[in-house]
Amino acid sequence: MMLRRLVIPTGRYGRHILLCADQSKPKCAPREITVPAWTALKDRLDELGLARGEDCVYRSKVNCLRVCDRGPIAVVYPEGTWYHSVSGEVLERIVTEHLRDGRPVEEYVFARNPLPMAPSPESAASEVAVPEPDPA
Ligand code: FES
Repeated sequence: MMLRRLVIPTGRYGRHILLCADQSKPKCAPREITVPAWTALKDRLDELGLARGEDCVYRSKVNCLRVCDRGPIAVVYPEGTWYHSVSGEVLERIVTEHLRDGRPVEEYVFARNPLPMAPSPESAASEVAVPEPDPA
C-alpha cells in the first residue's frame, strides 16, 4: 500500500472542540440556538487569534454527539471534557477560560473522557501518513 503525507493546513494544534450544531434532527437544542453558537465559536477563535498558528484550536461542527439533551453539546480534546448548554455566555467562557487559558468551565462539565494516549502539545504531529487513493 502506498502512503502519502497529509498535512494539516493550520499547523500544530493544541485543542480540538467539536460542537453539535445545525443538526439534521435537532434534539439537544434547536437550530436557532446551535447555528448562532457555531458562528460565535468560529468568530471568537478568529478574534482571539486561536484559529491559526502553533498551538491553535481546531473546531468541528458535528451533526450529533449522541447526548441529545441540554445542548448545544460540545467536547474538547485532548482532555475529553464534555459540556452542556454551549451557547451565549457559556460558549464565551469555554473559549476564553478553557480553549485560551486551559481551565475547564467546571459548572458546565458533565463528563470527562480523556484520550488514553493524548500527546502533549510538544509532541503532536502536524502531518500524518494516509493510504493513497485507489487509482481505479
Ligand atoms: S442532537 Fe446534539 S447531541 Fe444529539
